[in-house]
Amino acid sequence: MSELSRRRMLVSGGTLGALGALSMASPAHARSLMNWTWAPSGSVAGSGAGADPRWVWDEEADPLLASLLDRGAIPEVNRLLWDWERNDQPLPAGLPRDLRAFIEKARQLPSWADRSKLEAAAEFNKSRGLYLNLLNGVGGGMLSTAIPKEARAVYYSKGGADMEDRVAKTSILGFAVGSLNAYRPDGSCMVNSVKTRLVHAAVRHLLQQSPHWGGDIPISQNDMLVTWHTLPTFAMRKMREWKVPITQAESEAYLHVWQVTAHMLGIKGEYIPATWDAAEAQSDQVLPPAMGPTREGVELTDILLGQLAEQTSPGSVSRPLCNALARYLVGDEVADWDEIPREPFWGAAVRTAWPALVKFREGLLPLPLVPEAAWALDEAARQYILFYLTKGKETKIDIPVVNRPE
Ligand code: HEM
Repeated sequence: MSELSRRRMLVSGGTLGALGALSMASPAHARSLMNWTWAPSGSVAGSGAGADPRWVWDEEADPLLASLLDRGAIPEVNRLLWDWERNDQPLPAGLPRDLRAFIEKARQLPSWADRSKLEAAAEFNKSRGLYLNLLNGVGGGMLSTAIPKEARAVYYSKGGADMEDRVAKTSILGFAVGSLNAYRPDGSCMVNSVKTRLVHAAVRHLLQQSPHWGGDIPISQNDMLVTWHTLPTFAMRKMREWKVPITQAESEAYLHVWQVTAHMLGIKGEYIPATWDAAEAQSDQVLPPAMGPTREGVELTDILLGQLAEQTSPGSVSRPLCNALARYLVGDEVADWDEIPREPFWGAAVRTAWPALVKFREGLLPLPLVPEAAWALDEAARQYILFYLTKGKETKIDIPVVNRPE
């Protein structure tokens, strides 16, 4: 069996295909399957086959998107889905029947979704919006460029050629998750998560045709878990490190909105952590081996930080400040992989000013004790959020039909 057919079979067969293919997989693959020790008993599903998520993708969406791409149906699908925005909005007429059936199922909340927790999460996202947007946007962004598989997937897919548009599109989902009406009928989280699931399935098909993509099928369940931990798990760890007061109900609610989002993105219930303890354990298992430097990641980081500097405060001070802030958020090891320059002045200023700003915002530090640099950071964070809120309103998530142009 050719490598391509084996991959196709894996995609179309999902978990079963992956297990079945083990007999012909390399011993290294077989060993790695045994290495997956995170117990499905710690998941929202409570049980599962325990299959290694590195060899599981999305068996419902992947064959569908491959077929839609091969049939040349995507441009019309994108046109029809352009104005499909609200959670409660019926699908437009004219969609291919197989896609309509898929979306009608995929847009449903999981049976375990808890409306009251989702409401509490929305309040939490509102009150901690500044930290969360910064952590998920700048922090998550800088972490993702230090994940070789993700950096290369982003670089060689269509969006890699226009990072401003790409970040604006990604932040559509980020802002949707963080908005007050995220999963209410008038919100847009269900729609944007399902659209993202379709985009990921298209990328799995397209990237394998890229001459630059030598690896396995991209965006496995494991890859998605890795990215997921760079979002809520990383943000929660950082907020705890900064001593942001968070109640038990708030932290459970925040986890819940991301559990639901994981499900909506196509992550299987048996891999979605049920508790923060389970999430921490899973993060420690999947994140460290998935991280490291790449040429593509370094280039993407430079583009992202250049854009951040331009948007926050044009002028000579802004890039060093952004470098320092990014390094502060992700730490020296990741910053070195991303080749984020060290900034002696701003580095020291951010290390003092940011915790003071957090304390001030939480009512734990009086105004006169807040160092001047804190206001530059506060302003930079606000400008950053405003820029992508505005940009995100000008664009929508749509399904790519090509990879990055040569
Ligand atoms: C597209 C979010 C995991 C690679 C997108 C989009 C969003 C998103 C919102 C649509 C925006 C766009 O089209 O540019 C997420 C979230 C993830 C996740 C929340 C996990 C929780 C991953 C992983 C990879 C990946 C693990 C790769 C290893 C991509 C690529 C695109 C994409 C290549 C398409 C870019 C293009 O248009 O060419 N993702 N993603 N994503 N994502 Fe993800």
